[in-house]
Order: sequence, then structure tokens, then C-alpha cells
Amino acid sequence: MSLSCLIFLVSNSIFLLSLFSFTIHAHRCTEDFWSVAQSRNLTLCKRYEHSSGVEFGWNFENTTQTLQVMVGARLESETGWLAWGLNFGPEPRMVGTQALIGIKQTNGSFLGDTYNVTQYIKIGCKLLPSLIDLNVRNLKFTSLEHLQYHIIEATIHLPQTANDSRINHVWQVGKVAIGMEPKIHDKHLRNYDGKETFDLHTGTALTIRAGRRHQARVAHGVLNIIGWGVILPIGVIIARYFKKGPIYWNEHDQWKHAHKVCQTCGYIIGATGWALGLWLGTSSKYYSFPKHGAFGISIFTFATLQTLALRLKPHKNDDLHTYWSIYHLSLGYALLVVICVNIFKGIKITQEEEIWRPAYITVVAFLSFIFLIFEIINWLRFKVDQLNKEKDNSAGTMSKST
Ligand code: HEM
Ligand code: HEM
Ligand SMILES: *[C@@H]1O[C@H](CO)[C@@H](O)[C@H](O)[C@H]1NC(C)=O
Ligand SMILES: *[C@@H]1O[C@H](CO)[C@@H](O)[C@H](O)[C@H]1NC(C)=O
Repeated sequence: MSLSCLIFLVSNSIFLLSLFSFTIHAHRCTEDFWSVAQSRNLTLCKRYEHSSGVEFGWNFENTTQTLQVMVGARLESETGWLAWGLNFGPEPRMVGTQALIGIKQTNGSFLGDTYNVTQYIKIGCKLLPSLIDLNVRNLKFTSLEHLQYHIIEATIHLPQTANDSRINHVWQVGKVAIGMEPKIHDKHLRNYDGKETFDLHTGTALTIRAGRRHQARVAHGVLNIIGWGVILPIGVIIARYFKKGPIYWNEHDQWKHAHKVCQTCGYIIGATGWALGLWLGTSSKYYSFPKHGAFGISIFTFATLQTLALRLKPHKNDDLHTYWSIYHLSLGYALLVVICVNIFKGIKITQEEEIWRPAYITVVAFLSFIFLIFEIINWLRFKVDQLNKEKDNSAGTMSKST
């Protein structure tokens, strides 16, 4: 048991290490955007691949405290909007952002204005143009037809108090607006990720690197799918079908042993992924995924109970044994369902459904197929046994009557 578990853990750590050392080019602008930025005399450029694909080009003149910016993104919907702003609070976040927002109008024109994003916006007040605590000149919202991009351009005179080697900037892309009022953006990761603290002189990010966070999320998803979503159900299949058939693996209680190995490994791997999720959740103060988190915590709690159950099991001859079995089985099956639901919820949050969903659906389909086949075999065998018994019985009565 300990050997196979060790192999699992080692291969997992190797996989994780390879994830963390993998470098992604998240911070390089597309060539087209960069050439437009250069034509505007901008000197630095970043692209936020995991956060709405927003690209940000800028130039900062130290002596005059002048910041020239160009922010671009694809706005697909008819009344899409693009927002970018600075937040002079202690952290980059939505509330407190002094924002420039460009909105596509239904009549085909592009209008930009300044917006003070207060705490009231988050609880549903209308976001309307207003004066902001930022000296903005030449605010323009236009489209780059050849790139199908919309861009905000502006020249900003930073206040003396601003710390230009630690600037909080925030961006967002929305789909719906009415006139000059942008309506709420989606509530997915890529929307919540639109913020960063960085150094205006070099562009270096000073918050947890978005790339790192992305990798931790991938590891969270993979560990949870492997631990809870694959190994645990395999353990259930072993317990159900290797004990009394169709596959007999019962001479020395091997099935019991294999079941324990699977459930223990699944639990350890799943719990690692869960802990990573908990860390991700607590390190993002300004947003949360309450349903996914609540399901996650109950999965961990009940899986812990199931694992403990292996130790607290009453003796076979004990009266309690039947009750214990019913409890262990029903909790086990319920757990499998909740796990499946929560994995789909997690996949929905990431919005990278085109990779995750087919992969997990394949896993679910494969496991269900095995369940179904074994279930049919058992049922057929039961029917055959029954037929044989009936034959024996009728043969018996016939011989008696004659
Ligand atoms: C149009 C009106 C808007 C509404 C009603 C709105 C509402 C919300 C809500 C409810 C959340 C999630 C909070 C949670 O889970 O507790 C959120 C998060 C967020 N929003 Fe908005 N939002 C709006 C506009 C904007 C704009 C214009 C920006 C960018 C300048 C923006 C940037 C963000 C960011 C970065 C987050 C992640 C959490 C944070 O850093 O505070 N939002 N928003
Ligand atoms: C049954 C398996 C899973 C469990 C038990 C679980 C558990 C959790 C928990 C407890 C959180 C913290 C929630 C919060 O407070 O905001 C979380 C966050 C999250 N989970 Fe899962 N999760 C599971 C599967 C998945 C899967 C399969 C994915 C993606 C493919 C996923 C993606 C995420 C993401 C993206 C977050 C938010 C990270 C952030 O705040 O930056 N989860 N998960
Ligand atoms: C860029 O700089 C050059 C040389 O200093 C100047 O002639 C040109 O007008 C500038 N372009 C813009 C868009 O500011
Ligand atoms: C923006 O809103 C905040 C909070 O309501 C307020 O304290 C601040 O004075 C506003 N800024 C401007 C320029 O009106």
C-alpha cells in the first residue's frame, strides 16, 4: 500500500514541479498592438492573457510625472465596454478605482468618459460619468479596425503623492451598457483578475504573478480531478465489483486492500488539491466563489469521515455492522455525485471550458461505462442463477410427483 501511494505522490510532485517551472509568455504584447503603441511613442507594453486578453502600452516621463497610456481589448458585443484606471488605495482592486471607460454605442459611435468606482457600485448603484481624482487629458476611445481592437488613449498627470514604482492599476471588459452607463461585467476569473501592482518604470509586477496564480489554479484543478474524480471512484468500483464478481479478487481479501489503497491515495491527492483551493480562496480577498467553496469544504469533511470510517469499522459479527455498511455506502455514493457537480462548477469558474470539460467528461463517461458493464454482467448472472434455480426446483418437483 505504502509503495503504490509513494509512486503516486512522487509522480504528482514531478508533475507539479514541471508546472511551476514552466514559463509562460503572458507579458508580451501582440506584434500588431506593439507597433501601434510604438507609433504613439509608447515605450513599454504588457499583455494580460488570462484576464480578458487586455493589452496595455504606456510611457512615463519622470520629470513631468506624465503618463501616457493606451489600453486595448476585443469588444465583441454590440454595447461592449472597456475600463482602465488607477487605484491610489493600498491595493489594486475595483472599489476606489479612478477609471476611464470607453463604451460602444448602439448607433455605432465610441464614447469615453471618466468614472469614480465607489463601494456603492459593487452593491448595485448605477455607474455614471463623474469627475475623478486624476488629471486626465486627451481621453479618446477608438477602434483599430485591422486588429478588431478597441482602445482607450489618454495622457495623465500623476499627483506628486503617487508612488510611481508601486502603481495599482485595474481594468475590466463588459458586454452590456445603456448609453453612458456600463452594466455589471461577468463574474468569472478573467474578470476578477483585472488588477495588478506594478512598477511604471520597468513594468515589473509586484503582486503575486498572474502566471503563478494561474499555475496554482491548474494544479488545484488537476489534483482535485485526479484525487476525488478518478482514484476515489475507481476505489468504489473495486469495492463493488471485485468482492463478489464479476471479477473475483477475494482469496486473501485483495479487493479490500486495493480499495483502501485507492481511497487513501485519492484522499491524500484530493486533500492536497483542496488545500490549494483554500489557499487560493483566502488569498483573494475581494472576490469569492461561495458555492464552489462550500461544496468543496463539505466534500473534504465527508471524505474525511469516510476515511476515518475505515478505522472505526465495527466488527463483522457486531449488530452495528449492517448499519455501518449502509451508512458508509450511501455516504460514499452521495459523495461521488457532489464531487462530480463541484468539478463541473470549478471548470465553469475558469472559463477555459474547451480544455477541461471534454477531458473530464471523457473520464466520467469511461467510469460510468465500467459501472454499467459490471452492473449488467452482475444482473445477467443473477438472472441466469435464478433460471437455473427454477429449473432445479421444477425438476425436483417433477421427479417427486412421478
Ligand atoms: C458597471 C458596474 C459594475 C458592477 C455592478 C460591478 C460589480 C462587481 C462585483 C459584484 C464584483 C464581485 C465581488 C465579490 O465577489 O464579492 C466585482 C469584482 C471586480 N470588478 Fe466590478 N463591477 C462594475 C464595474 C467594474 C469596473 C468599471 C471595473 C474596472 C475598472 C471593475 C473591476 C472589478 C475587479 C478587478 C473585480 C475583482 C474584485 C476586486 O478587485 O475588487 N468592475 N465587480
Ligand atoms: C471536487 C473537487 C474540488 C474541490 C473540493 C474544490 C475546492 C475548492 C475550494 C475550497 C476553493 C476556495 C473557494 C473560495 O473560497 O473562493 C476553490 C477555489 C477554486 N477552484 Fe476548486 N475545487 C474542486 C475542483 C475544481 C476544479 C476541477 C477546478 C477547475 C478546473 C477548480 C477551480 C477552482 C478555482 C479557479 C478556484 C478559485 C481560485 C481563486 O480564487 O483564485 N476547482 N476550490
Ligand atoms: C513621437 O515622437 C516624435 C519625435 O519626438 C514626434 O515627432 C512625433 O510627433 C511623436 N508622435 C506622437 C504620436 O506623439
Ligand atoms: C469618489 O467617490 C469617493 C467615495 O464616495 C469620494 O470620497 C470621492 O470624493 C469621489 N471623488 C471625486 C473626484 O468625486
